[in-house]
Amino acid sequence: MKIAVIGSGYVGLVTGVCLADFGHEVVCVDKDAAKIEALRSGVIPIYEPGLDELVKVNAGAGRLSFSTDLPAAVAPADVVFIAVGTPSRRGDGHADLRYVREVAREVAGALEGFTVVATKSTVPVGTGDEVAHIIGTANPGADVAVVSNPEFLREGAAIEDFKRPDRIVVGIEDERAREVMTEVYRPLYLNQAPLQFTDRRTAELIKYAANAFLAMKITFINEVADLCEATGADVQEVARGIGLDKRIGGKFLHAGPGYGGSCFPKDTLALMKIGQDFGSPMRLVETTVSINDQRKRAMARKVVAACGGEVRGKTIGVLGLTFKPNTDDMREAPSLDIVRGLQDRGASIVAYDPQGMAAAREMMENVAFAADAYEAAAGADALVLVTEWNEFRSLDLARLKAAMKAPVFVDLRNVYRPHEMQRHGFTFVSIGRTP
Ligand code: UGA
Repeated sequence: MKIAVIGSGYVGLVTGVCLADFGHEVVCVDKDAAKIEALRSGVIPIYEPGLDELVKVNAGAGRLSFSTDLPAAVAPADVVFIAVGTPSRRGDGHADLRYVREVAREVAGALEGFTVVATKSTVPVGTGDEVAHIIGTANPGADVAVVSNPEFLREGAAIEDFKRPDRIVVGIEDERAREVMTEVYRPLYLNQAPLQFTDRRTAELIKYAANAFLAMKITFINEVADLCEATGADVQEVARGIGLDKRIGGKFLHAGPGYGGSCFPKDTLALMKIGQDFGSPMRLVETTVSINDQRKRAMARKVVAACGGEVRGKTIGVLGLTFKPNTDDMREAPSLDIVRGLQDRGASIVAYDPQGMAAAREMMENVAFAADAYEAAAGADALVLVTEWNEFRSLDLARLKAAMKAPVFVDLRNVYRPHEMQRHGFTFVSIGRTP
């Protein structure tokens, strides 16, 4: 199949590259000429394990190319994926559809022959109808089927998630699209990944409901963690004990500093707005959003308490800045609230992150950056582990302690065991566990 992917950001790039790897002929389009030029020379603008190798192999085989020329990519395509950003609109939290609409108009003018136009971007319920309307108005002769095909990729595991998905959801209004989309995903179909065909609005809602449910699950265990601290129970054991119940499931029950990233915060907010707009409020989601916001700020207070109630004039080492490991993404990262909260109380921050420091330099002020964990620990009054990168899992604890001014270790991801840390002489504070 010939496929055009419009938007070579995170979702577009991973989708295009993986579809090329399935054997399709794919053109990834973006209006950012510098980005396209970089991609052509093999420079990947995001950090995603395994992506550079797949780009090299598929571009080398001639199945994958990069272009700024949208009409040339769209005209011969059987399927056009719209994978542009839908950021939260400033002020009201609604998803901003400006880019989706713009692309729909441009695509409309370039269509030739029957084409499936699939939205990959996470878009509010009814956007598929709007895209169909925009295309129909701009080009009344176009023979097009607009489908909703939400993606469920996790940053850092995106290729694995694309190639071995739990399911593929396709919302269609035109039966001809069923055959085309089955062909697109045939390699996965052979792997027995369920392909769920449904109507377009349902597909759009599935995406938001999935992300909101996961955000709610994390927030639930985070509240249980607080209760564990108050009652002397252990949240790791509670999570295991409830997660073994297949109806609950053990995943996304890891208590931490609150969820961040480019998806959960934006999508929960958007679903909340959709509910309000349709007069069917999503009260659990509203509460989740507010608890999570408060939690990120509360983490700074937790560090202050671990330091004996005062951080003024103290130096705090921060390990991990990105919203989760294996990404360079800092969007809505809990580290932003934690660092700001500690600075507001008079602390100096020395931070280290394996991939996030370039972005962090743009987003954080008055932070000193270290070359590794031990440098971040040097002379620190406390160390805070914010993101559970693998390289923080087996730190040389004796070396770390020797480098620090005071051996206070706050582990917001429960990477270390309390008795182990105490044995090494640390004052140790973690999440949902009493020392
Ligand atoms: C999320 C979803 O997991 C994907 O299925 C979805 O496709 C994607 O959003 C999207 O809408 O594009 P992602 O944001 O990359 O993926 O990252 P997650 O692995 O889901 O983590 C999100 C946040 O939750 C992170 O801050 C992470 O630290 C936190 N988290 C996750 C926890 O605190 N505890 C957990 O048990 C799991």
